[in-house]
Amino acid sequence: MTPRLTDTLTPVKKSALPDAQTVTDVKHWTDRLFSFRITRPAALRFRSGEFVMIGLMGDPDPGTGKQKPLLRAYSIASPSWHDELEFYSIKVQDGLLTSRLQHIRPGDGIILRPKPVGTLVHDALLPGKNIWFFATGTGFAPFASLLRDPQTYENYDEVIITHTCREVGELEYGRQLIEDIRGDAMLNELLGTEHLAKLKYYPTTTREESANMGRITDLMRDKTIFEDLGMPPLSPDTDRAMVCGNLAFNLDIKDLLEGYGLEEGANSNPKQYVVEKAFLDWRCVYSGDETRFWESAGLRHQRDKAP
Ligand code: A2P
Repeated sequence: MTPRLTDTLTPVKKSALPDAQTVTDVKHWTDRLFSFRITRPAALRFRSGEFVMIGLMGDPDPGTGKQKPLLRAYSIASPSWHDELEFYSIKVQDGLLTSRLQHIRPGDGIILRPKPVGTLVHDALLPGKNIWFFATGTGFAPFASLLRDPQTYENYDEVIITHTCREVGELEYGRQLIEDIRGDAMLNELLGTEHLAKLKYYPTTTREESANMGRITDLMRDKTIFEDLGMPPLSPDTDRAMVCGNLAFNLDIKDLLEGYGLEEGANSNPKQYVVEKAFLDWRCVYSGDETRFWESAGLRHQRDKAP
């Protein structure tokens, strides 16, 4: 009998890993989605919305027996004030990393390269009145961080998060997070109850019936979302946006935002909107003994393999 992948995995020993952190909690949301928390190195500082490289050791090389780290970029889903790091990931059964990562348990070790970077940060946007977060699938992760950051509410009068998934179950991580933000006494105190009145949550599904059906891009084009929220379409004078989702989505939203007159910003040149660059290109995300190329981030599950 062919052993299942899980049968062949040896437990991850923290002491055997470079830059090791310990898994503290794992939650499975659907058969395709899970989130987990790990310890945070005392020295790690990051801005809400940034990503880091995390992973596990790869299989031993058949020739040399040597193992190399298998790393990918993951948005940090926890806010910068939190004492643990949270991540939200897809599970791909034949994916190089997530086929293994989905089996982690509390106490296991995870490799974390403590060098946070990213474009979905407040510093990359000019001041504005409304901030729009546009996500599909696990692209919700950086916004899970930003939505728990007091600065988000201090900077803006309205905070709108849209999340488009195929099915209702895939919205659950985000739905529960919004419920926690609204209902959790500690978060209320931290973020400010009056600030939380600014939060507007607009989930949509495309392949299963729900209150808001359709791709967010279509709901913007036909103005449904603006009617539903009682807000005018975006304007460069008042609106700022951050985008994180699959490649086609990122490009379509970019077109729409440019159509409203918004311009793309960067850390070094703040403007009116930003897109998570890590997910737009294949890029080198790890240079160690050898250079490995992955499409970065736990978001692009369609391309979980190295090209
Ligand atoms: P759809 O079901 O119409 O493809 P995925 O799971 O493939 O990453 O997709 C997540 C969500 O993003 C799905 O609801 C999907 O809708 C939607 N989506 C995919 N591509 C686009 C796009 N170009 N513009 C808007 N939404 C998109």
